[in-house]
Amino acid sequence: MSCESPLHTHAVHAGLYPDPTTGAVITPIYQTTTYAQEAVGQDKGFTYTRSGNPTVAALQRQLGALEDATALSFCTGMAAISALCLALLEAGDHVLCSDVVYGGTVRVLRQVFERFGVQATFVDTSNIGAIRDAFRPETKLLFIESPANPTLKLTDIAAAASAAHDAGAWLAVDNTFLTAAGQLSFSFGADIVLYSTTKYIEGHNTTVGGAVLARDEAIVEKLRFVQNAVGIAQSPFDAWLTLRGIKTLPSRMDRHAKNAEEVAIHLESHPKVARVYYPGLPSFPQYDLAKRQQRDGGGMLAFELVGGVEAGIRLMNAVKLCTLAENLGAVETLITHPASMTHGPIPAEERRAAGISDGLVRLSVGLERADDIIHDLNCALSASTTASEKNTS
Ligand SMILES: Cc1ncc(COP(=O)(O)O)c(C=O)c1O
Repeated sequence: MSCESPLHTHAVHAGLYPDPTTGAVITPIYQTTTYAQEAVGQDKGFTYTRSGNPTVAALQRQLGALEDATALSFCTGMAAISALCLALLEAGDHVLCSDVVYGGTVRVLRQVFERFGVQATFVDTSNIGAIRDAFRPETKLLFIESPANPTLKLTDIAAAASAAHDAGAWLAVDNTFLTAAGQLSFSFGADIVLYSTTKYIEGHNTTVGGAVLARDEAIVEKLRFVQNAVGIAQSPFDAWLTLRGIKTLPSRMDRHAKNAEEVAIHLESHPKVARVYYPGLPSFPQYDLAKRQQRDGGGMLAFELVGGVEAGIRLMNAVKLCTLAENLGAVETLITHPASMTHGPIPAEERRAAGISDGLVRLSVGLERADDIIHDLNCALSASTTASEKNTS
């Protein structure tokens, strides 16, 4: 896998230009609700910030330019996922979704969209045969997360795209874990790409945001309508912070992946670690697929400890440099307990069936020195050893 994203130059410049009124090199924050119109029916392209704002427009141009698509920005990742469903689906339609996805995605499909007559089925999308078998005549959308939150399970995007297209459905890929710097989903046949920009794209733990990208103008138009009609666009200030984040996205992603690989290799050899899930490790069951469709292993990993749930919880309570928190993809290393935090909305039985064990620990490896992260984990692993474990070791 190569070590440097081809997007370094693009991330600094693509879709951006000096502010036309002042020449400001950095797009200003247009913190305004409304825009003076020259005469009735004559405006300068903006009328009201829910419908359009120059800072948000700059973010959309840049996100789109990175993937040769059109992007629309939303106030959260969940708003982006909801906008996609509102734009493309209607009562009676069916969605096929990966069985391992962010818990909020399961919650919105089951507890919101099902109430409006959109059915969802969750299937192991790492198994292309299972995907093909699960399509129904009314299936309009195949929604996958690859790598999936939190087990990093992958879906073969090209195979999923051809299964979706054979069934007359669209393929949407939630690429939050890798971003365009790590995986170009459109090049494998995706119709729609989604992001929680809250994560790596903004990258500094300062905003929540989301984006939906598409190349088909008909899909873009439907999304644009929903963005305005429902009123869920990104705010100018959060758009500005996200624009700032994108400039360093490829550099951060390179470093996140390098650090994550070092941490994963270390954890894999640690006697207290039972299993490590990281797509950049040769031991990862889908390592070959990762090499084919990802630039590198990414910055996320998960692991299980010898000693299961109790040991995992003790570790998460003992770390000092790593912060126990929801969120991922920020400069700080964050450690998360999916069963009680990010994947709490999924019923326990289903969670376990999808491989999200109660003891699974998720690590979003930050930009600190890899040795410091490893040292913190080592200290927490020894501090969290129980007296009985010490006696037997
Ligand atoms: C893969 C993935 N998609 C979507 C979301 C939702 O994003 P947000 O929290 O910005 O609404 C998350 C949140 O953790 C996520 O991990």
